[in-house]
Amino acid sequence: MNIVIIGTGYVGLPSGVGFAKLGHNVVCVDVDESKINSLKEGKLPIYENNLEEAFLEVVNKNLTFSTSYSCINEADIVILAVGTPQSNDSEKADLKYIFAATNEICKNLKDKNKYFILATKSTVPVGTGDKIEQIIHEINSDIDIVSLPEFLREGYALEDFYNPDRVVIGSNSDKASEVLKELYSHIDNDKILITSRKSAELIKYASNSFLAMKIHFINEMADFCEKSGANISDVALGIGLDSRIGGKFLNAGPGYGGSCFPKDTLAMLGMAKEFGVGISLIETTIKGNNDRFKKIVNNIKDMLKDIDSPKIGILGLAFKNGTDDCRQSPAIEITKELIKNYQNINVYDPKANQNAKSILNESINYTNSIYECAKKCDLLVVLTEWDEFKDIDFSKLKDCVRVKKIYDTRNIINLNEAKKYGFDVINIGVKN
Ligand code: NAD
Ligand code: UGA
Repeated sequence: MNIVIIGTGYVGLPSGVGFAKLGHNVVCVDVDESKINSLKEGKLPIYENNLEEAFLEVVNKNLTFSTSYSCINEADIVILAVGTPQSNDSEKADLKYIFAATNEICKNLKDKNKYFILATKSTVPVGTGDKIEQIIHEINSDIDIVSLPEFLREGYALEDFYNPDRVVIGSNSDKASEVLKELYSHIDNDKILITSRKSAELIKYASNSFLAMKIHFINEMADFCEKSGANISDVALGIGLDSRIGGKFLNAGPGYGGSCFPKDTLAMLGMAKEFGVGISLIETTIKGNNDRFKKIVNNIKDMLKDIDSPKIGILGLAFKNGTDDCRQSPAIEITKELIKNYQNINVYDPKANQNAKSILNESINYTNSIYECAKKCDLLVVLTEWDEFKDIDFSKLKDCVRVKKIYDTRNIINLNEAKKYGFDVINIGVKN
């Protein structure tokens, strides 16, 4: 099939690579000229686990890049994958990129009778498909507008592309549903769910909100463990073994972040208010997660209160492992607060130093390894769950730090190894 993907970011690019690897002809379109130029030269503008190898196999073959929308005239399917960030002045999703792209599609349509499917992968509020349809149908009423929500996780984008838990097709047209089922013929039929467009739009927000709630729940249980003496790892395992609850997304930590959970929970709340529906669980989750960053900062302050001009080493800046994405990263939010209170801060992230610099500027010392970061530190704080941090060489680390103390907010440090070299490790969800 001829596929055009509008928006070449963390969703559009891995999807483009995935569809191209399946043999489709894919054109990825973006308004960011420098991004498109770099992609045309075979360079990836983002870090995403395992993406580069797959990208190099198809780039400039059946995967091409353009800043022009003219390619939509040859498309069987056009996929919208532009950003839907939070509005500056409300909880709602800002749809300016969605409607800019929709208008560009209208402007560039040559044959007003040509059929294609316009599928929205961007996360959009319930009813957005109706608005897109209204605009598009003024030009060509044959085009089918479908909701095709994306559920991939950063760091696992290609893995999730090839093996998703489900594909949801929100379509009010049988013809479009059949074509999209064909597009996803590499996925087992029983994983393909066809719903109305509005239901598909809501499934996306409800999924992210539920996962965010699950994380907030386990973080509150971790707080309870810290006071009561229970251990959060055992508790998470114990409840997760109940198949009705499930063991995934029960890792306590510094709070959830990223470009989606924070904005999507807020947008869900905004939508609920608009429809006059109370969703107190999500409201509590949002507040609880914001408070969590402050709690972690207060814990750090408490650990350092007896030291004059302490030096802190931050391990991890990305919002999770496997990506260089720092959007709404808990590590960044916590570091921002620490910068206000401390002058000596070293940071290290295996992939995200550069992106972090564009948010945190030069106010801290960026380093290139765990050991450089740890130099003369009074406290090391683990904020992102990178594998590299699980394999710290403590025989080397002990000669770098001033004080052998680690606050592990991801519970990933090898406690036996750390203990062997005299390190004091403070975990989340454990009475210390
Ligand atoms: P992103 O910011 O990484 O990429 C969006 C791209 O769209 C940018 O490259 C931007 O230049 C481009 N763009 C903006 N306006 C455009 C226009 N008019 N025409 C062409 N290109 C345009 O965003 P993302 O993280 O890929 O997210 C995209 C959407 O997918 C969002 O709605 C998000 O909520 C949703 N989503 C994201 C993820 C994720 O893991 N990041 C997962 C599932 C769903
Ligand atoms: C999330 C969803 O998992 C995807 O299904 C969805 O497509 C995507 O949002 C989206 O809509 O953009 P992603 O943001 O890539 O994916 O990352 P997650 O793995 O979900 O992690 C989100 C945050 O929660 C991270 O900060 C992570 O560290 C944190 N988290 C996750 C925990 O604190 N504990 C956990 O057990 C799991």
